[in-house]
Amino acid sequence: MRVLVVGSGAREHALAWKLAASSRVEEVLVAPGNAATADLGRNLPRVSSSDPACVRDAARRHAVDLAVIGPEDALAAGAADLLRDDGVAVVGPSAHAARLESSKAFCKAFLLRHQIPAAHASEVHDRAALQRLLADHAGPLVLKMDGLAQGKGVLESDDREALLRFGTAALASGPVLAEQYLHGFELSLFLLMDGNRATMLPICSDYKKAGDGNAGANTGGMGAVCPVPWVDAALAATIDAQIVQPTIRGLRAEGLLYRGVLFIGIMVTEHGPRVLEFNVRFGDPETQVLIPLLATDLAELLWAAANGNLAQAPLRWHDQTAVTVVAAADGYPAGYRSGLRVASLPPSGDPRGEVFHASTKRTGDHVYTGGGRCFSATGLGSDLASARTNAYALLEQVRFPGGWWRTDIGAHLFNAAPPRNS
Ligand code: AMP
Ligand code: GLY
Repeated sequence: MRVLVVGSGAREHALAWKLAASSRVEEVLVAPGNAATADLGRNLPRVSSSDPACVRDAARRHAVDLAVIGPEDALAAGAADLLRDDGVAVVGPSAHAARLESSKAFCKAFLLRHQIPAAHASEVHDRAALQRLLADHAGPLVLKMDGLAQGKGVLESDDREALLRFGTAALASGPVLAEQYLHGFELSLFLLMDGNRATMLPICSDYKKAGDGNAGANTGGMGAVCPVPWVDAALAATIDAQIVQPTIRGLRAEGLLYRGVLFIGIMVTEHGPRVLEFNVRFGDPETQVLIPLLATDLAELLWAAANGNLAQAPLRWHDQTAVTVVAAADGYPAGYRSGLRVASLPPSGDPRGEVFHASTKRTGDHVYTGGGRCFSATGLGSDLASARTNAYALLEQVRFPGGWWRTDIGAHLFNAAPPRNS
């Protein structure tokens, strides 16, 4: 089959890398792609992933059979709808279902309607209401912008002034959700759905904060680990019973059970697991740990999901651990420079793991950075310690001016025990 991957990040690189290894795939096209995906298939550099008509026209031109849509903005803009109308098998929901991610208010109302455990929240529509809410609540609070914000539309703080500043700015683009602050351990859970059924993929842990020790601003994700050692069968069963099954029932009841990936952000608190958010796509950087652990054919799996046939696709995972660490540009997640010349990268095919590119460009013999999160170094190992060592060893070979990364990805998991029900 001819497969189109929409996007240019390290997530899309990981998907294209695995798809290119499939005997069922004739050609992988990546729109627009990056310097590394060009070596795996063909980039379509003039196709903007956020322009659905442009993506649809490219799929027509290249006789695409299967499309996998990476970024949420493409889904929210209706790329999956247009491609499906054209007869392409698509991994990704309709714009209607994508509101589960693109509107925090829609997501919260869905959680409430289906009694899925989540933080208490209220919607705020103006500055006066925000001021009243901040005055009425003691302790830390979480404010969330309504629309898509690349993981940066959320502030957790107990500083009233910072909350008021953030909330006032966020109100300019719509209502703001004010949420109870949940203490606990965060997990990323992915359901691959085929319109009838959903399969749970191995649970990952993402590092959302910019700094070591989870300090600093929210980012799109600075690293990830899979599987998470303290998630035992009992916790997985609780998550399945309290979150996954009610979510699937709710999606089905509302006609939202789609063909694609549902990503559930979960906080495991001492009172049990709570949903933080839904996303309607693969995670970045979680995909960079999930995909290298997949032992079976990704093209076959995604084709089955896109055609309502998941039960037919073989699905097995390597008995290994994967750790990915993101190398970011100086200044990220605030302002940063791109177009920086990359001085060195480890070669692809290293037995320790793989370095995935995000939005890089090649000019002549040189690779240049393209975004805030520039590379994602995934180490594999028989256990967490060796996977972590391999990820950081690969990262030492990733050199570009001002590049930095968190040094503690996977480290706390050695000590952490799961929170117990009180
Ligand atoms: P979201 O986009 O809703 O996932 O929020 C981004 C990040 O903010 C999450 O990954 C969490 O780290 C944090 N967060 C969101 N909601 C809460 C909450 N209610 N309590 C504590 N942290 C939260
Ligand atoms: N890593 C979180 C996300 O993809 O939204």
